[in-house]
Amino acid sequence: MSDKATLEINGEKYEFPVVIGTEKEVAIDIKSLRSATNGIITIDPGFKNTGSCESAITFLDGEKGILRYRGYSIEELAEKAHFLEVIYLLIFGELPNKEKLDQFHADIKSHSIVDDDLKKILDAFPKSAHPMGVLSSLTSALTAFYPSSVDVASEEAMYNSITTILGKFPVIVSWTMRKKQGLPLEYGDDSLDYVENIVKMMFKSPNCEYKQNPILVNALDKLLILHGDHEQNCSTSTVRITGSSHAGLFVSLASGISALWGPLHGGANQAVLEMLEAIQADGGDTKKFMAKAKDKNDPFRLMGFGHRVYKNFDPRAKIIKVAADELLADLGIQDPILDIAKGLEKEALEDPYFVERKLYPNVDFYSGIIYRAMGIPVDMFTVMFALGRLPGWIAQWKEMRRNQEPIGRPRQLYVGETYRPFVPVDER
Ligand code: SDX
Repeated sequence: MSDKATLEINGEKYEFPVVIGTEKEVAIDIKSLRSATNGIITIDPGFKNTGSCESAITFLDGEKGILRYRGYSIEELAEKAHFLEVIYLLIFGELPNKEKLDQFHADIKSHSIVDDDLKKILDAFPKSAHPMGVLSSLTSALTAFYPSSVDVASEEAMYNSITTILGKFPVIVSWTMRKKQGLPLEYGDDSLDYVENIVKMMFKSPNCEYKQNPILVNALDKLLILHGDHEQNCSTSTVRITGSSHAGLFVSLASGISALWGPLHGGANQAVLEMLEAIQADGGDTKKFMAKAKDKNDPFRLMGFGHRVYKNFDPRAKIIKVAADELLADLGIQDPILDIAKGLEKEALEDPYFVERKLYPNVDFYSGIIYRAMGIPVDMFTVMFALGRLPGWIAQWKEMRRNQEPIGRPRQLYVGETYRPFVPVDER
């Protein structure tokens, strides 16, 4: 592989360094392009061909369906790790030993009380408010209650900011759900594991002794691991570019939550369930919905299918599909929606339109079936995605700050009006 790339334009040749990553990915470093060529830039809507950064957190191979966090395969982590270990791994780069893990959990628990005044903001929302909008607002509002979290100059301050949000985020997630359900807002139980505590905060009923359900805890633990990070996806890029102005961690996360809400991104898990329910209500006629998905005049897309990077299967979808089968069997639930999903997947994988475009089920296709089996309301599905993605966002934000990356400020190609003199209104 040559170490230089040459660009020839207007009879001039320009050379740019070629950089190679640890997984042999190749990039052309165009940092000097505009200055070397007196103003020439590249343009790449959606950044399909543009790397925004060098990162050591997550590796994806879209052709081979590979996903690794800090070098560990998603398959091994989903099977053998717990979410709290994966949070530590993503943020600090290594799997913690027991002593470090226990200390990390203790530090997180020390921040697991949320200022009661935050409930006044929650109370201002109508019950009809979408939980993602509530969560984004509450996450941003945390800065007002914990202003010291903005300063991350020292390692101690960075660690404090990180453990603060890891302690408080699960509480505001549970409050967001319970507020809509008209249930009292719970605090956590420090005697429990991290995910056990999340499940209890979300599902504890006010009128009976809470009994932990290990099946639900294990299923959620695995799902959260599978959502942990996914390199420079839309919401993570949003978190990084917001933080690049040195805005605080919490507001950067709030911007990522907003980006994740979109149905083309994390909002797809809610859209998938609504699509499957529509197919069920329509008599299970998947062919009709497949035709709509292929009709260029129809804005309908097969939600939960396709991916910017995975042009083969999404390894997370494979794991979640198995987990959905296991959970429903363990809970003794027969959910016809799962059968519709499997039927849709089978049809799509045999349909030339989908095969030619390499459209496979993604992480959002089956995850909603698990959330539904757990009794999580459908409009909370993307909130659960955000809960899983929290450590990835934190890890990427921390990497961006510690690498002292410049403020994100893309260029553009102007295609508007050229100069024209002002015309007074009575002359127009
Ligand atoms: C996530 O980036 C990440 O890593 C995201 C994520 C993460 O972990 O952070 O993995 C999580 O967001 C998963 C994706 C969830 N979104 C959906 O399931 C929504 C449905 N999917 C599509 O909207 C789409 O596939 C995207 C947005 C996921 C990817 O869009 P791209 O890469 O911009 O692809 P494209 O729109 O250029 O599509 C290429 C072709 C087009 O057809 P042609 O113009 O070539 O004829 O494929 C078609 C598209 O119309 N196509 C679909 C389709 N997805 C793409 N047609 C029907 N149904 C679909 N779902």
